[in-house]
Amino acid sequence: MYNDDVHILPKGFAAIEIASKSIRFSMPSDLQTGALLKALVGSKPKALVLEIGTGTGLATAWLLAGMDADSLLLSIDNEARYQSVADNILGDDKRLSLLCTDAGQWLDDNQEQKFDLIFADAWPGKYANLDAALGSLAVGGLYVIDDMMTQPNWPAGHEDNVTKLVAELESQADLQIVKMAWSTGILIATKK
Ligand SMILES: C[S@@+](CC[C@H](N)C(=O)[O-])C[C@H]1O[C@@H](n2cnc3c(N)ncnc32)[C@H](O)[C@@H]1O
Repeated sequence: MYNDDVHILPKGFAAIEIASKSIRFSMPSDLQTGALLKALVGSKPKALVLEIGTGTGLATAWLLAGMDADSLLLSIDNEARYQSVADNILGDDKRLSLLCTDAGQWLDDNQEQKFDLIFADAWPGKYANLDAALGSLAVGGLYVIDDMMTQPNWPAGHEDNVTKLVAELESQADLQIVKMAWSTGILIATKK
């Protein structure tokens, strides 16, 4: 029977999962989101890719697995303890740059750089600094967010943030949006 099981995992994924558990990293992307990111980024040859919120590198591993040899991925997190897991396991991949800094400030300071795919998986780039994140998206680029359906770790009242974010994205004349009630709740926007 057809289902959304994911059987083939990217290089380094199993090791990242083990390390994530050992440091009790509690915010991992799920397998469906990862597989989707791999397929989407595979549609973008020579892509410049931005991940906001490296965590321990689970989605980073999926993105690298889908990218061609000429693509580059910049992944930003402000927690060195999490990001060092990604560095230890994926850091040999020359297509990957890891930056440990505040992503909101970085977005505000780097508006000249345009990305073909942005996976915004932290507060900045999603619930803050949204204009800067969308301003960093190339024409034809994909802006991808997950965790749009209620999650067990949401703080009280977070539904309102999600509602406002979706309304804000839907109001942007230069974006085409698709909302998927699948995985943890995915939204993809493409820039006209
Ligand atoms: C949902 S987790 C990322 C999960 C990761 N993408 C994955 O696939 O497992 C969110 C991450 O955003 C990071 N973060 C939170 N605030 C941030 C900020 N202001 N700047 C950069 N990273 C931030 C956290 O440290 C955390 O690792």
